Amino acid sequence: MTTEATAPPTGAPTTAAPWVYLDGDVIPASDARLTPSTQALNYGTGVFEGIRGYWHGDHGRLYVVRLREHFERFAASCAFLRLDLPGGAGPGDLADITVELLRRNAHRGHTYIRPLAFKRAFEPGVPFGVKLRGVTTSVSIHTVPMGSAPTGPGIRCGVSSWRRIPDTSLPARAKITGGYANNALAVDEVQAAGFDDAILLNHAGTVAEASTSNVFLVRRGELITPPPSADILEGITRGCVAEIAREELGADVTQRHVARSELYTADEVFLTGTGVEIRPVREVDGRAVGRGEPGPVTTRLAEVYARAVRGEDERFREWLTPVAL
Ligand SMILES: Cc1ncc(COP(=O)(O)O)c(C=O)c1O
Repeated sequence: MTTEATAPPTGAPTTAAPWVYLDGDVIPASDARLTPSTQALNYGTGVFEGIRGYWHGDHGRLYVVRLREHFERFAASCAFLRLDLPGGAGPGDLADITVELLRRNAHRGHTYIRPLAFKRAFEPGVPFGVKLRGVTTSVSIHTVPMGSAPTGPGIRCGVSSWRRIPDTSLPARAKITGGYANNALAVDEVQAAGFDDAILLNHAGTVAEASTSNVFLVRRGELITPPPSADILEGITRGCVAEIAREELGADVTQRHVARSELYTADEVFLTGTGVEIRPVREVDGRAVGRGEPGPVTTRLAEVYARAVRGEDERFREWLTPVAL
């Protein structure tokens, strides 16, 4: 698999970085084109990851957070949809390609990394239809500058009337592009009602997750989050929070099913995800969470996480892949 570029980036300025990885090559972003017959565009048969790199000016480094774990989850999602990674590339190869792409794009600022594997075209002789076999796989990685939002006063969430797609229909544990129509419907509904983000219940009626993040609550001193069987994506940031809680608070996270009404009576609620980081929730369905402001546990976890991902906490250094720019 080569990652050599042959031409300088061309085309209109874009907020995305100038170079992208596509099927073995690093090419100008403007040259990465797809036809309307792209299978994943028609049927949602793609999988993706969202990874963050945090720029540390004094260190002259971008710290990529849990790169290997993201590509392990990516490989599992790929296997689920029979997306065969070219040349049998594994998580380590994809991590290496990502580091090279970040060096090429040389963005000295916080960066979001989006790997995508998708069904592309029917192999010769394969008849038209919805299928996973007999369709080629493409893999791309692109990067976008993305700031890190301050924790702020917390967001207002609404519980959506759309239920999370159950594991028996489309597993949330695989990051399948088509499944995100479920999340988009939920966000659309609650934002029209004036909320910032949606919390989805599963078909059993217990809390699953938010649109792009996992849900935690603090009740009577206990840190609680729904288990994988609640139809959630097993978030990597969720795992980081468990590690921080153990190190910093000496507390274990309890994984158990959570009733909607517990969100109303929790002392603290917060969301965790690569994009949202650790985000306090100050209101659910128009009811204040605790005092309606970020609570002490959320604030402490968010502070430690912010330092950890910037390479400023030795205890969590093994999460990070440094990329010198
Ligand atoms: C539906 C959903 N749940 C949870 C998460 C949080 O996962 P992670 O912490 O691995 O980013 C995400 C973000 O990727 C997501 O899209």
